[in-house]
Amino acid sequence: MKIFLDTANLKSIRMYNDMGLLDGITTNPTLLSKEGGDPHKTMEEICSIIKGDVSLEVVSTEYSGMLDEGRRLRKYGNNVVVKCPMTADGLKACKSLTAEGIPVNVTLVFSANQAVLAAKAGAKYISPFIGRLDDIGQDGMGLIREIHQIFQNYKFKTQILVASIRHPVHVVDAAKIGADVVTLPPDVLGKMLKHPLTDIGLKNFLADWEKLKAEDPNIRI
Ligand code: E4P
Repeated sequence: MKIFLDTANLKSIRMYNDMGLLDGITTNPTLLSKEGGDPHKTMEEICSIIKGDVSLEVVSTEYSGMLDEGRRLRKYGNNVVVKCPMTADGLKACKSLTAEGIPVNVTLVFSANQAVLAAKAGAKYISPFIGRLDDIGQDGMGLIREIHQIFQNYKFKTQILVASIRHPVHVVDAAKIGADVVTLPPDVLGKMLKHPLTDIGLKNFLADWEKLKAEDPNIRI
């Protein structure tokens, strides 16, 4: 399973990338606006830090605007994946950009039918937003299960990028289903790192080492 970070925060991107955890990044206009500053500089910087796929989103809602923006976004790097919304124009742009060799992530997917159509249009990734489905009382992870089964039935190459993840249990459930990618807000990735027994265990090891040091102050590993 690949791990993407769902953020435009350069500090978090650098920190988790330095640990070797990141296979890619997803951004959207909301995440860029949260960071403030010049979004062009931010996108450029992200593409230079990260070797894997970086999803950058169009803001046009009609076909030709999406094509122009997609081509411009791709100039930030060969690792740019253009994020197009799950609309009729978005699918048309997906088909054209893909034909030009520019990969597309179809975003705002909320049903299995939408996922099938995006795959047919040639998307490299589809992004079902599971947290937003949970928020309205629907079963986000159930949608991932459905899409995974359908894509396997027909050997679709499109990858399932599980988005709108809210907590670490979502990650384990997506991995058990066999989803290709999870995109995580930095705080969820931070929570995955932690376990109270790790902290207690480390504290005890260090305390016991101090006992040895009390006997021989020159002792070292
Ligand atoms: C995915 O690419 C989106 O950026 C993101 O996962 C949306 O998540 P949200 O529902 O927390 O805004």
